[in-house]
Amino acid sequence: PEKAVAAMARQAPESLGDLNRLIQRSEPLVPGATQAVLGEGPEGAAIAIVGEQPGDQEDREGRPFVGPAGQLLTAALEEAGIDRGGLYLTNAVKHFKFVQRGKRRIHQSPTTGEVKHYRWWLMTELGFVRPRLVVALGATAALALSGRSVAVLRERGPMAFDGWNGFVTVHPSYLLRLPGDEERQRAQAEFVADLRRAAALA
Ligand code: URA
Repeated sequence: PEKAVAAMARQAPESLGDLNRLIQRSEPLVPGATQAVLGEGPEGAAIAIVGEQPGDQEDREGRPFVGPAGQLLTAALEEAGIDRGGLYLTNAVKHFKFVQRGKRRIHQSPTTGEVKHYRWWLMTELGFVRPRLVVALGATAALALSGRSVAVLRERGPMAFDGWNGFVTVHPSYLLRLPGDEERQRAQAEFVADLRRAAALA
């Protein structure tokens, strides 16, 4: 990975478009993904939201946060009064990692090594977007942004990332997995409250 980072640094992208072309041309670290899923949203957005990695649907469509977790995020943003179109949305890891089970492709969490491999891209990307606040959704994003393992439920809230004002909250797929309706609704309300609180900091 260090060699790969050095090789990418030598290519020194001069714009977000340049960087995105490099990302698109790169091979997935783990083979299988259809395409790299790039960040989406305006450069100069006040808030950047960082997820884990594209899911099955994102991999097919080539856009971040369009599957079930993305739809939950979109609904929560709306409830918090935040316009999704004004945000920059991206992922810590740019390729979908999965195991095939029959016709289904089952999501696999990236390893710490994989997160580190993709980190240079993420940091370079944020350097072009220059948000006032970076929101980490879940532990993988928090690891990528802070360089350490973060206990999301205990540490949720404002957090300084490497050079960025940050905020940590849960990942929407965690909310989708909660078993009881009541528990899920409570956790979703807390997620919306986090998003409101983050927006007020940006
Ligand atoms: N989950 C993520 O973390 N990112 C996406 O783009 C979709 C689902």
